[in-house]
Amino acid sequence: MLEKDVEKVLVSNAEIKQIAKELGKQLSFDYKDKFPIVLGLLKGCVPFIGDLITEMDIHLELGFMDVSSYHGGIESSGDVKISKDLGISVQDRHIIIAEDIVDTGRTIKTIMELLTFRGAASVEVVTMLDKPTGRIVDFHPKYVGTTIPSEFVIGYGLDYEQKYRNLPFVGVLKPEVYNK
Ligand code: PRP
Repeated sequence: MLEKDVEKVLVSNAEIKQIAKELGKQLSFDYKDKFPIVLGLLKGCVPFIGDLITEMDIHLELGFMDVSSYHGGIESSGDVKISKDLGISVQDRHIIIAEDIVDTGRTIKTIMELLTFRGAASVEVVTMLDKPTGRIVDFHPKYVGTTIPSEFVIGYGLDYEQKYRNLPFVGVLKPEVYNK
């Protein structure tokens, strides 16, 4: 039903599972004995963070913040809002922020600065998708699943007007969907 609105698949489900496996293995190595907080930024992180943490064979703590900047359209507003905070102390903790996508970089930069200000021992980013052509602030995520071109993508957590997050792959919508 949802797939009829999709023009093309950019990252298949099998590719996403492989990405999670490789990144999970790398993070397990890098964070062994560090008991990191894997911090998901809601809502887009949801499917990917599930895949990622089940590929991490170390002790970790799971946390979430509800953060948004798009407010419904296809362009970032640049105004990052926190509607639910983490609720646990990050003082002297190693934080891995898990994202679905880094686009302008504003969301991640804002949250990284906040966590550093709160006394985190380290803050790094793992993202399923990196869209470097969208960057407005200078930022390079340390752990990247795959790099995508300059297109508005949906699926596997990413939405258009809150819809399509439940697609099992990342794709591009047909233009007529925006004009409905
Ligand atoms: C999306 C995405 C990232 C952010 C990336 O979230 O999940 O958090 O935008 O964009 P940026 O690099 O330009 O800041 P959004 O604000 O749409 O909220 P959502 O996760 O609830 O969809």
